[in-house]
Amino acid sequence: MLLAYDDYGPGPVVVLLHGFPLNRKMWSLQEGRVGSMYRIIAPDLRGHGETAAPPGVYTMEEMAGDVIELLDALQITEPIVLGGLSMGGYVALALIAHYPERVRGLMLIDTRAAADTPEAARNREDLARKAEASGNVGHVVEGLFPRLFSESTRVGHPERVTWLRAAMEKTSPRGVVGALRGMAVRPDRTADLARITVPTLVMVGADDVLTPPDEVRKMAEALPRAKLVVIPNAGHVSPFENPDAANEAILQFLAGPH
Ligand code: MLT
Repeated sequence: MLLAYDDYGPGPVVVLLHGFPLNRKMWSLQEGRVGSMYRIIAPDLRGHGETAAPPGVYTMEEMAGDVIELLDALQITEPIVLGGLSMGGYVALALIAHYPERVRGLMLIDTRAAADTPEAARNREDLARKAEASGNVGHVVEGLFPRLFSESTRVGHPERVTWLRAAMEKTSPRGVVGALRGMAVRPDRTADLARITVPTLVMVGADDVLTPPDEVRKMAEALPRAKLVVIPNAGHVSPFENPDAANEAILQFLAGPH
């Protein structure tokens, strides 16, 4: 399906996939630094931002297929560096599993390789039904929002908190439902990690409670060529909460051999 996207900057292509239920503008604080040296392509995944929200379950594989379709439409055939935050990371792992020849470097940010626990999957279905019944995404936002940010972001950057909340609230109920059900059925990709041979940046906010640093560290240890960077003063949306540290880590990684 046709994805809305941003495409800016010179140089090698870096594709950035946003988290749930967000949109491509969550990468706006990467634009100035990373986008001055690399060509950033940031799509709105199906059901999010300005991309359409078809009915149905959005599997991570289907969302990865949408990204490939976009790259094909842009005639980008050379392997890319692919980054994803949280749900974007699930999609990135699905993409590299199915299209390994399209990826030369990976950035897994505030994300995990494991599947949902049965309890987490039930919780998502519950949220999906509530969104369907109410026709709004309020309770999804309420559930997620208090756990997203570090204290330092809440105190030091209230404007970022406000912006992110508005972005979440703009996501359509159908998009939220599709993504919730897709995340609930995503496979466990832990065993895939050992087969990912491209250089990988694993990044996590020091105060991330949704994908905590200890769990993320284990994922990095299972990846043959990973570097772990823990971003201080950041929670689950580390590139948005502490863009200076995150951009530095991303630029260092991108400057390395791929
Ligand atoms: C995200 O930030 O994309 C979500 O927290 C992912 C999830 O719900 O597993």
